[in-house]
Amino acid sequence: MTKKISIVGASGYTGGELIRWALMHPEMEVVQVTSDRFAGQAVYKLNPNLRGFTQLAFSPVKELKTDVDTVFLCTPHEKAVPYVKKFMETGAKIIDLSADFRLKDKNEYAKYYSEHQAPELLGKAVYGIPELHREEIKKAKLVACAGCLATSVILATAPMIKSKLISVSGIIADAKIGSSAGGAAFDISTHHPERMGTVRSYKPKGHRHTAEIEQELSAINGSKVSVGLTPHGVELIRGISTAVYAGISSDITDIKVWKAYRSFFADSPFVRLVKDQGTLYRYPEPKPVIGTNFADIGFEIDQEKGRIILMSAIDNLVKGSGGQAIQCFNLMNGFDEKTGLWYPGYHPI
Ligand SMILES: NC(=O)c1ccc[n+]([C@@H]2O[C@H](COP(=O)([O-])OP(=O)(O)OC[C@H]3O[C@@H](n4cnc5c(N)ncnc54)[C@H](OP(=O)(O)O)[C@@H]3O)[C@@H](O)[C@H]2O)c1
Repeated sequence: MTKKISIVGASGYTGGELIRWALMHPEMEVVQVTSDRFAGQAVYKLNPNLRGFTQLAFSPVKELKTDVDTVFLCTPHEKAVPYVKKFMETGAKIIDLSADFRLKDKNEYAKYYSEHQAPELLGKAVYGIPELHREEIKKAKLVACAGCLATSVILATAPMIKSKLISVSGIIADAKIGSSAGGAAFDISTHHPERMGTVRSYKPKGHRHTAEIEQELSAINGSKVSVGLTPHGVELIRGISTAVYAGISSDITDIKVWKAYRSFFADSPFVRLVKDQGTLYRYPEPKPVIGTNFADIGFEIDQEKGRIILMSAIDNLVKGSGGQAIQCFNLMNGFDEKTGLWYPGYHPI
């Protein structure tokens, strides 16, 4: 049965992406999208790709309806809490794309963000990476979708931790990320003259996604996993390319790594293993996944240096946010995980 959905914070980049997927989804009816800045304006005026697909206009958030089946929250972090509290009192399922409910530990939240305004609800949220928490997501009332960088690091690394093929100390994740990850609001760092042509390390230590990466990998490991995350802004609009460097045991082989990935992602249609010869596309890269919900994962063992390089590529606005949110919606509502999401990208692009 078709589900009525609404999107709070729909004028932003994740909101716009969610509207796009929701309009194509066979089981979704978009009943409301909110924006205070663009209240009353047609959605297609802000999202020209949606012209001809919807006549919806943005509603001011004070007119937010609560009689929906699912609400998606695309607000900045620290702004989702009031909506989560409100919808916890209704029958609606809640899918929060912000960071507000990703962390289980309020002290970790305070360390990376600020004091949490509803710590009593942290334990009620399921972390929204279906490849890790599929069964819990199916039963969840509140899903906290993973961060985009976190998704790219966790998907590449979790199977290696689970199979104990890498050392859990000294893991380094280096990510290249496009400008849409910063959202639609103006910022000097994304202003065209400042961003064009850049390769900029903007948070070489202490990036907020470190907290959720360590939370999830530590849970798989059974004890603390420490990860150093260094993202670089590069001249892409969409896309993340991540390389994770980790120490290895001497008996690691390609076959063992393949088996570990294949087993971990056996029921995960959106993860593709990429490690080829005789093609330009030997490893994951963002272009083939742009506009899709795929996460491409690859690896290379460097026996001489005693390390493995794990590689991943996702579209931050799809597998890193809007698409992953729809994937969670499908699971929460008993639909096939691929519903409305099973599209290849473009080539060439
Ligand atoms: N961009 C990404 O790649 C990405 C990936 C994963 C997760 N995320 C997370 O997803 C969330 C949205 O990101 P974004 O990139 O879409 O941000 P964005 O482009 O800056 O959009 C933010 C949206 O939130 C609305 N908003 C702001 N304060 C609000 C409030 N108090 N109540 C209701 N609506 C409010 C804005 O609406 P108005 O028009 O009313 O101002 C706007 O529609 C963030 O928490 C971000 O960290 C982003």
